[in-house]
Amino acid sequence: PSTCFNIFHLVFLCFSLFSHGSCPVLECWFMKEKVGGGLSGGPNQDKSLLYVHKHADSHRAESHDAPLEVNPDRLYFVTDPAATLCHRSLNPRRGSSNKPMCEINPLHPQPSTLELAVPLTEPALSPIYLHADWLSTALQSFDKTMSISAITRAPTGTKEHDVILTLTTKTVLVQSRLGAPVLLDCSFWANPSSPLTGTGFAVEWRYQFRGDGRLVLAYDGKSDRLSHTGEEGATLDFEALHGRGNASLILQEAKVHHSGIYICSVYLPYLQAQVAMELQVVEPPSLSIHPSPLPLTAQGQTINIQCEASGFAPLSLDLHWEFKGADGKTKVLGSGSLSSHRQLWDGTYTQSSRLELDTADLGRAGEVACVGVHPGGTRRVSVEINLIGNSPSIEDSMAMVGVALVLYGLIKLVSWSFSGSGNNKTSDEKQLKRLNLT
Ligand SMILES: *[C@@H]1O[C@H](CO)[C@@H](O)[C@H](O)[C@H]1NC(C)=O
Ligand SMILES: *[C@@H]1O[C@H](CO)[C@@H](O)[C@H](O)[C@H]1NC(C)=O
Repeated sequence: PSTCFNIFHLVFLCFSLFSHGSCPVLECWFMKEKVGGGLSGGPNQDKSLLYVHKHADSHRAESHDAPLEVNPDRLYFVTDPAATLCHRSLNPRRGSSNKPMCEINPLHPQPSTLELAVPLTEPALSPIYLHADWLSTALQSFDKTMSISAITRAPTGTKEHDVILTLTTKTVLVQSRLGAPVLLDCSFWANPSSPLTGTGFAVEWRYQFRGDGRLVLAYDGKSDRLSHTGEEGATLDFEALHGRGNASLILQEAKVHHSGIYICSVYLPYLQAQVAMELQVVEPPSLSIHPSPLPLTAQGQTINIQCEASGFAPLSLDLHWEFKGADGKTKVLGSGSLSSHRQLWDGTYTQSSRLELDTADLGRAGEVACVGVHPGGTRRVSVEINLIGNSPSIEDSMAMVGVALVLYGLIKLVSWSFSGSGNNKTSDEKQLKRLNLT
């Protein structure tokens, strides 16, 4: 058992070495603060490099291999004990053109004016700690599935930054069916060695859609109180929040009006970080055809068929008709005459299409289908069509020839048997003659 334990120990060691070694060098744009009116010439962003390590002592002479086009003032050495910035999706394979996006902004910690976060800011807090170089870094992974916001601090004049607060979402874009539970991921890590942690935090979720914004939920972690719940069925997992910094928003049932941008903000005294994500509630349409089954129709007549698509969201739907003949060939019949959209109480939409189907050149039988192509999936409903012919088809002509042949044969037989009995009749006549003669 001890060798076994040692092997595990070794694997663990290798793993931690590997993950340690995989912390990236991040290429970022440093956004310069506008001085004066903002009309001053020159670029307002600088290329910069962030050397990330889990341990402060790992930063050794890294500036020597920095590319020449990067200003040495824009090289930063970041210590991230939680290794949030060491996630593999921030470290693309060499030569890959998909690079993580990264933007750095200078930050000036200030007491929050947000009612929720005001109690966090204690007057006794050391201003010397705040008096430092602060940066706010926004990152998106190269596969665009993860966003991170990191706040780092370096003693004034140095480039050695410590991560103080990170906020991560792994659900940058979420698609949900109507009525399904939704989890919008958001988790934070606050550096326990910072005097800003341990005095409490606050979490706020905001919603935005086409310029319309509202507060979804606000939680005061200091007094453990939900101070605002603007959305029915929206909640947090408070145990996970206090235990692991998991501030994910849970929506019990996705509704159409939940579609939009969600912003998760976490407040520490003087600091705030936020990440945004998008929720799309997508529900494909239910289709129905009227009348179904179709009434018996003579070939050449026009049939009116109606297709109703209901319960779908978002609005974008392509409704069209298809005909599949007995030979298996499919013909697209166009979209018919479309009605306008109607929105129901639950936010889903309804639309219908009417098809005037000319049956003249459809053959005798087949299937008419209404097809709805929607971001939530393609739906199809079909109805059988059987026509009564009044102009003979090839099959009919063949059958007629067959019937004619059979009739001809019957007539022949009858006439032959008739002439046979005639023979007997004549023999009867002969007999009669013979009787007469007698
Ligand atoms: C956060 O909490 C939610 C709800 O309990 C859970 O479903 C989710 O997996 C958690 N996320 C992480 C990263 O632990
Ligand atoms: C014609 O009548 C004779 C007797 O009169 C009979 O034997 C014979 O079978 C009959 N023939 C036919 C074809 O019915």
